[in-house]
Amino acid sequence: MAMSWVGFGSVYLLTGLFLGGLRSCNGGISSSYFRSNDISDDMPLSSDVFAVPPGYNAPQQVTPNEPGSSKVIYWAELKKHAVGTFVTYKYYNYSSPYLHHCTIKNLEYNTKYFYKVGTREATRQFWFTTPPEVGPDVPYTFGLIGDLGQTFDSNRTLTHYESNPAKGQTVLFVGDLSYADKYPLHDNNRWDSWGRFVERNVAYQPWIWSAGNHEIDFLPQYGEGEPFKPCTHRYFVPFEASGSTSPLWYSIKRASAYIIVISSYSTYGVSTPQYKWLMKELPKVNRSKTPWLIVVMHCPLYSTYAHHYMEGETMRVMYEQYFVKYKVDVIFSGHVHAYERTERVSNIAYNIENCFCAPRNDEFTPVYITIGDGGNQEGLLYEMVDPQPKYSAFREPSHGHATFEIKNRTTAYYAWHRNLDGYSVEADSLWFHNLYWKSSSAVASF
Ligand SMILES: *[C@@H]1O[C@H](CO)[C@@H](O)[C@H](O)[C@H]1NC(C)=O
Ligand SMILES: *[C@@H]1O[C@H](CO)[C@@H](O)[C@H](O)[C@H]1NC(C)=O
Ligand SMILES: *[C@@H]1O[C@H](CO)[C@@H](O)[C@H](O)[C@H]1NC(C)=O
Ligand SMILES: *[C@@H]1O[C@H](CO)[C@@H](O)[C@H](O)[C@H]1NC(C)=O
Ligand SMILES: [Fe+2]
Repeated sequence: MAMSWVGFGSVYLLTGLFLGGLRSCNGGISSSYFRSNDISDDMPLSSDVFAVPPGYNAPQQVTPNEPGSSKVIYWAELKKHAVGTFVTYKYYNYSSPYLHHCTIKNLEYNTKYFYKVGTREATRQFWFTTPPEVGPDVPYTFGLIGDLGQTFDSNRTLTHYESNPAKGQTVLFVGDLSYADKYPLHDNNRWDSWGRFVERNVAYQPWIWSAGNHEIDFLPQYGEGEPFKPCTHRYFVPFEASGSTSPLWYSIKRASAYIIVISSYSTYGVSTPQYKWLMKELPKVNRSKTPWLIVVMHCPLYSTYAHHYMEGETMRVMYEQYFVKYKVDVIFSGHVHAYERTERVSNIAYNIENCFCAPRNDEFTPVYITIGDGGNQEGLLYEMVDPQPKYSAFREPSHGHATFEIKNRTTAYYAWHRNLDGYSVEADSLWFHNLYWKSSSAVASF
């Protein structure tokens, strides 16, 4: 399936000559796994996964259509309630339903809570389990899903995630949610159908959101000049708690992990709010409390697919040095509709005068994982940089999801799952040794 990409092929040929005939590129595995490359259509609005729940003004996407009530009744043993708020927004000639947001405080750790939303005959009941208290050896399993959309393939990805015996407890979503912007005037009814589609998982476990290019919804010629409007009205994130001024970048501590979400489509240069926030955030991470440092952003900093090649390059030049300095364990991205995992590499030695401008292997630098293979209507990307660059460890254009299972402060297990395989099959996997603890024991053993 891998096609040679002529332009870059010749660049590598020149590099080869420069090195006196040494083959500069002998990367890892370009999987030759066979799949049909049909593009999957969006599921029609009449599909079972988009069905509106029965009952007058019943909450959907966990939210009712008319104002109804923002009250959430919740209980583990005793019933309590919390009252939220609602927002609405317009997008060109679309008017959103009432979007209710309710924060429930003072919950116990590690407890299953039931909750009810809606009024009278149209209440609906769900449940969630609160995370364990933060601590260095607390095991926890994250799911990784990206670029999901709402096709038949998207539905397969979600089903595989739900059926994976690794049992993800929280999804790290790497951006590009509904793909409503593929419809004329970004038909926001497709934001609603997406909310109903993912409700079967989102209502029961947290999804930690990051925004991709399909969340920008920028349509100034139709009066829609506020970027990220549908997404930020629908998907609230606790950004103020981490001192951020925008829902597009923030952090969350979960079990033994510290998750930093950043935005590929917001300004990030020196003196921008995002840059200043990140510079304050990275030194705050206490690896004795949360050993695992994970960064999530939509656009990958390392990717060897032809499509979107080097789109993350300016951010890499800006930020990679900090991810290396602060020993980020892994960086998850999407955007490229395929799967790829890099070696542990860094490319931060270059300055404007030296010639050190190639990625170098370094066991104390992050692994970069592209998991943009959720299955949206744009289909998979097959064209790759050929030959496979050395920093690329494994790449394959198939739909799927991944899991990151933290065992304790030193060890985590990562696995990628294809939709075409059985639920427990792992198509790529890697044991992670925590970079902070690995490097402190390396120092201690001198
Ligand atoms: C989506 O997946 C679920 C769970 O596997 C299945 O019950 C449902 O019929 C699927 N719907 C469509 C439209 O593919
Ligand atoms: C919005 O405008 C489009 C294009 O003119 C039209 O097809 C659609 O029916 C309109 N929707 C509503 C809710 O008025
Ligand atoms: C980091 O966390 C550890 C363990 O809780 C604590 O002992 C230490 O004082 C913290 N370090 C800083 C700089 O806050
Ligand atoms: C951490 O987990 C790994 C894998 O389960 C295990 O081999 C290792 O002994 C554990 N380390 C500690 C300090 O518990
Ligand atoms: Fe994208």
